[in-house]
Amino acid sequence: MTVCAIREDSAEGLDRAGLLPWLERTRAEWFLEYLAPSAGAKARHLYQRFMSVARNPAGRVTVHAEGGPGEIQAALAVERLAWDSLHFGMECARLGPYCTAENVDPSRLASIHAEMLEDAIAWTAAKNFRLLQRRLLASNADEIRALERLGFSQADRLITLHAVLRDGAESACSDPPYFRQAAPDDLPALARMARGAFPLSRFVRDERLREAGGAEVYVKWIENLVVARRSRLDVKAAETELVVCAVDGRPAGCLAFRRDGTVDDLLGWPFATLELVLVDPEFRGRGVGRRLVEEAMRRCRCAGVRGMEASTWSGADAALRLYQSTGFQPRAELLTLHRWI
Ligand SMILES: CC(C)(COP(=O)(O)OP(=O)(O)OC[C@H]1O[C@@H](n2cnc3c(N)ncnc32)[C@H](O)[C@@H]1OP(=O)(O)O)[C@@H](O)C(=O)NCCC(=O)NCCS
Repeated sequence: MTVCAIREDSAEGLDRAGLLPWLERTRAEWFLEYLAPSAGAKARHLYQRFMSVARNPAGRVTVHAEGGPGEIQAALAVERLAWDSLHFGMECARLGPYCTAENVDPSRLASIHAEMLEDAIAWTAAKNFRLLQRRLLASNADEIRALERLGFSQADRLITLHAVLRDGAESACSDPPYFRQAAPDDLPALARMARGAFPLSRFVRDERLREAGGAEVYVKWIENLVVARRSRLDVKAAETELVVCAVDGRPAGCLAFRRDGTVDDLLGWPFATLELVLVDPEFRGRGVGRRLVEEAMRRCRCAGVRGMEASTWSGADAALRLYQSTGFQPRAELLTLHRWI
């Protein structure tokens, strides 16, 4: 008996439908999969993600539930991207997580997937979203084909790398004067460095985003880290440290690293992510990037962090070389696809 095909669910509805126990038995793509989180921790992490989207009036979770009560074949979230929407002055959303039951025939799953995607596109159009984004593993060829059939196209290709931090020689944290926390006075120099430094990013490669101020995303991001971290207005910024490397008193480069408690809970050990690694063109090729990454690793190790992630774009040879020469190993390749509505 068919109970229902695609239906939108509230957080309470998802609980009643048995989302958490179902997630423990599903196939779910997760970018940190290679760090082998336990099945239970991964299910709880995805459950929190679905619940927070379902509770948000600007988000939506749909489940495909067909068959007896309690049977779910797939669940998909569509979430408004607050930061992108504000920066570009147009509503932007992202698709995901997308989870599927293991016992469904692949061809049936493909048609369920297509149906859920069409439904998500129709909903985003009705809510006046302009851009829908999906980031997924590049190896996920079936989903990529399905997205492309519905008008999604590739916006960027990322390589994710991972480093294991082992106990180093240093026992206490010290701050050499060469490195310091970014301050408002650094902003003009950092903004100059950031403009044009990330040509392979989706914000620049997608013509419509570029024209809407894509290259300024990184400038705003840096400003936000300096200003919001000081005022503690933005939780993510408060968890992120932006370090400047100064040469003769001038900022020659910067780098951010972020701690995220939800990822620590997922993995069961402390983890950090490197972001915004950036060196002034005038200082490139002189070891500034390497010293910044090594300094971030040292600070993280001092804080008890055991593993770090960095990512960059396929084709960003200098960044890939820098990460690999500081102990990071490539672990996953991700594609970002865009669908203009
Ligand atoms: C990536 C970047 C931070 C490197 O900074 P840098 O100070 O020039 O790097 P370093 O001088 O410390 O060099 C580190 C390693 O990268 C290699 N490298 C540097 N520039 C390179 C280039 N253009 N091509 C290939 N390898 C390069 C160096 O040979 C060195 O490797 P080695 O230790 O095996 O010899 C800098 O090029 C940059 O700001 N790029 C733009 C922003 C960016 O792409 N950020 C990273 C992605 S988020």
